[in-house]
Amino acid sequence: AKPTVPSGVEMTPQDLVEKIKSNKQARRGILVGWHFVAAYCISLCEYSRQRLARMTASGIENPDSQMGAYAMNPQDYDQFATMLDPMIRDSHGIPTDVDIAPQNDWDTGGTACDLGAIDERLKDVSMRVRVARNVSTFPLPGAMSREQRVAFESVAAQAFAKLIEDPAFGGQYLSITPGSPHEIDADEYGQRVQAHQMFKDMSTDPYLTVAGISADWPHGRGMYVSRDEDFLVWVGEEDHLRIMAMQHGGNLNVLFERLRAGLETLTGLLPPFATSPTYGNVTSCPTNLGAGMRASLHMKLPGLTSHGSDLTRLKREAKKIGLSVRGAGGEHSGAGKDGRVDISPSARLGAT
Ligand code: ARG
Repeated sequence: AKPTVPSGVEMTPQDLVEKIKSNKQARRGILVGWHFVAAYCISLCEYSRQRLARMTASGIENPDSQMGAYAMNPQDYDQFATMLDPMIRDSHGIPTDVDIAPQNDWDTGGTACDLGAIDERLKDVSMRVRVARNVSTFPLPGAMSREQRVAFESVAAQAFAKLIEDPAFGGQYLSITPGSPHEIDADEYGQRVQAHQMFKDMSTDPYLTVAGISADWPHGRGMYVSRDEDFLVWVGEEDHLRIMAMQHGGNLNVLFERLRAGLETLTGLLPPFATSPTYGNVTSCPTNLGAGMRASLHMKLPGLTSHGSDLTRLKREAKKIGLSVRGAGGEHSGAGKDGRVDISPSARLGAT
C-alpha cells in the first residue's frame, strides 16, 4: 500500500527549504538542520516532498529538538535514506563506512549484572528495560487515523487476552479509549501515571503533537499490565508498542530475562513487527532504531539535583560517562521531590 501522508501539511518546496535553512542558521532542530540538503529536497516529486515535510515538521516547529524528525511509515527509513541515514549515523555516532545493522543478543549468561554486588546501595532500586516495536500492518503513529489507532488497539487487546490466560503473565488490559470495553476512569489513569506505569497525556508534548503522534488522544491508547505488575506494554504512545519489564531489586539479569520472555510470547501473538534490513527494528523516532531498547534505573540523587527539579548539573555530569538523565515522570519532566531521576545509557544503535 502507498504510505499515507496526513493532511494539514501543505508546503511548497521553497517553503520547506527556507524553513529548514533558517533553522539551520540558528542551529535549531539540530540534526534535521545539519543534514538537510536543499537539492535533495527539490529533486523529490511533490508526493515525496510532502512526506518529507511531515517527517521534519516537529524539528522545524520545535527549535530545541535534537533529532527533529519522526518516521511516518516503516518504509521511510529506506526511501528517505539520503537524508535520514546521515542523521541516524550522527545521532548514534556510527561512521559512514561502518555497517549499521544491529547485533542483538539476549544472552546475559556471561555477564553478572547484580547491582547490589557492585554497590550495597544499589540492591533495591527501581529497574526498567523497554523495547519499542511497531507492527508492519499499520502506518507508524504519526500517520495513523483515529480508526487505525482504535483498530490497532483491538488487535493488541486480542494478543493481551491470550497473555492474560498464560499463568506466567496474567494481569489485565486497561484502556483510555472512550467507550472501550477495557476503559478505566480518570482516577485510575491518574494513579497509574503516578505509579510511573502508564504514560502521560501525550497531547501536551509539543514534539509528539507537531509530529501527529499524539493526535486523536486518548483514542487507541492503553496499557497491559501483568499480575505482578512487572511486565507492561504501552499501546499507542510514540510507537505502536512499548514493551517493558519493571522490578524493584538489583538483579538486571532477572529483569532482562523477564523482558525477553514477554517479548517472545507477544511476538507470536501479534502481526509481524516492522523491521528494516539496515537498521533492525523500526521506530517512530530515529533515536530508538535497532534494538529499540532503553534500560534505566529510577534512583534518588538529591545531592545532584538540589532536591528540586533542576537536572542541568546532573545531565552535564552524566553525559561525561555516556548516560542520559530524565525526570522521574519521563522525558522532559523534572526530578521528583526527593531527587528521584531516571538514568540510562545514551547508546542505542551500535551497542550490543
Ligand atoms: N523529537 C525529539 C527531538 O528530536 C525526540 C528526542 C528523543 N526522544 C524521543 N522520545 N524519541 O529532540
